[in-house]
Amino acid sequence: MDYIKIAQTSDFIVDQKKKVSYEGNEILLTKIEGRYYAIDNKCTHMGGSLYDGNLDGNTIVCPRHGSAFDVRTGKVVKQGKILFIKVRVPDTRSYLVKVEGTDIFINPSLE
Ligand code: FES
Repeated sequence: MDYIKIAQTSDFIVDQKKKVSYEGNEILLTKIEGRYYAIDNKCTHMGGSLYDGNLDGNTIVCPRHGSAFDVRTGKVVKQGKILFIKVRVPDTRSYLVKVEGTDIFINPSLE
């Protein structure tokens, strides 16, 4: 499958993150130190919206139970907790991103 356009660079003038939809899937797009990254927006634990979490450097923290994901790779960097019990959270999907001019694309078939 080819790359699909999902955003524009002008979307990141104020914010470092943006939530976009592609064929029913929500994707979290971030801009970190001038580069763009895309991962699934839905937390792999219980579906929290990662877009609603805090972005701290390369890490987005799920607002529901605190699991943290590296937005560059989709890898879990910290397991969240429910009360005092750690939850088991798998990595999330990341997407290849490319920029052409002012257009941002992802390739949904390649990670
Ligand atoms: S829903 Fe994200 S850590 Fe539980």
